[in-house]
Amino acid sequence: MHQRAFVFGGSEGIGLAVASQLVAAGTQVVVLSRSRAKLDAAVAQLGSGAVARSVDVTDAGTTTAVVDALVAELGVPDLVVTTAGYARPGYLDDLPAEDVVGMVATNLVGTINVVRAVLPHLRASGTGTIVTTSSMAGLAGVFGYTVYSATKFGVIGFSEALRREVRPYGIDVRVLCPPNTLTPGFDEENKHKPAEVLAAEESVATLSPEQVASALMRALRRRRGFLVVPKGSRLAATAIRYAPSVVDRALRRPTP
Ligand SMILES: NC(=O)c1ccc[n+]([C@@H]2O[C@H](COP(=O)([O-])OP(=O)(O)OC[C@H]3O[C@@H](n4cnc5c(N)ncnc54)[C@H](OP(=O)(O)O)[C@@H]3O)[C@@H](O)[C@H]2O)c1
Repeated sequence: MHQRAFVFGGSEGIGLAVASQLVAAGTQVVVLSRSRAKLDAAVAQLGSGAVARSVDVTDAGTTTAVVDALVAELGVPDLVVTTAGYARPGYLDDLPAEDVVGMVATNLVGTINVVRAVLPHLRASGTGTIVTTSSMAGLAGVFGYTVYSATKFGVIGFSEALRREVRPYGIDVRVLCPPNTLTPGFDEENKHKPAEVLAAEESVATLSPEQVASALMRALRRRRGFLVVPKGSRLAATAIRYAPSVVDRALRRPTP
C-alpha cells in the first residue's frame, strides 16, 4: 500500500499501533518522538521494518532539519502521520499555565510544524497522504477540556484548509478523530480528570489503540473521506452534526 511512512508520535499509544500495522503491511516506517527510551522500545517491538529519530514537534527548526535529513537518507515518504499530542483535562481556572501553552504548542503548532516540514518534499514528489490527529473532542466541546478541545478543533480547521490548498499537488489530507483510547497518554490524562468528567464518561466508547489504527488503515485503503471516525463513535459524530441540542445536554457539566 504505502512504501514509506513517517509517524510522528509513533513511539507509543495510537501512533505506535499505526506504525505497527504499517510495518505489518510492508511499509518502511520511521517513528519519531522526543524520548530515546520510548523510541528504542518501539523499534524493538516493530522490528527491522522500522527506524527511529528523536524530535520535538514544538520546535519548527529541528522538525524541518530532521525531516530533511531523513528524506536525504531514505527518500520522500508517501504517508505522513502525526499523532504527537496530549490532553491535560481540568477546569479552565485550574489548568496550569504551562499546559495551556503546552497543548497549543504540541497539538496545534506541533501539527503545523510537521506539515510545514514535509510539505516541500511531498509537493516535489507530486503525491502523498498527510494524516493529522484531532479527537472526538475536536468535533464537540467537552466540559473539562476547554483548551484541549480548542487545539483539536484547530487541527480540523487547519487540516480542512490544508486539504483544499494542497489538492492541486496531488496530496491528500485526513484527520483521525479517536474517542477515548487506552494508551499511556490516556492513563496520564485520567490522573487529572475532574470527578464529574469521569462520571460523564462512563457511557462513552473506549477503544484500544489497535482498533483506532485499524480504522485509519481501512480509511486509507478506501482513498476517500476526510474525517476518520472509528466505528463505535460514528453515531456520536452524526449526532454532533445533526442533533446539537441532544449533544449539548449530554456533554454539559451537571449543575450542582
Ligand atoms: N488516547 C486517547 O484517549 C485519545 C483520544 C482522542 C485523541 N487522542 C489524540 O491522539 C494522539 C495520540 O494520543 P495517545 O493517547 O496515543 O498519546 P500517548 O500514548 O501519550 O503517545 C503520544 C506520542 O506522542 C509523542 N509526543 C508527545 N509530545 C511530543 C512532542 N512534543 N514531539 C514529538 N513527539 C511527541 C510521545 O512520545 P515522547 O513522549 O517520547 O515525545 C508518544 O510517542 C494525541 O494527539 C491525542 O490528543 C487520544
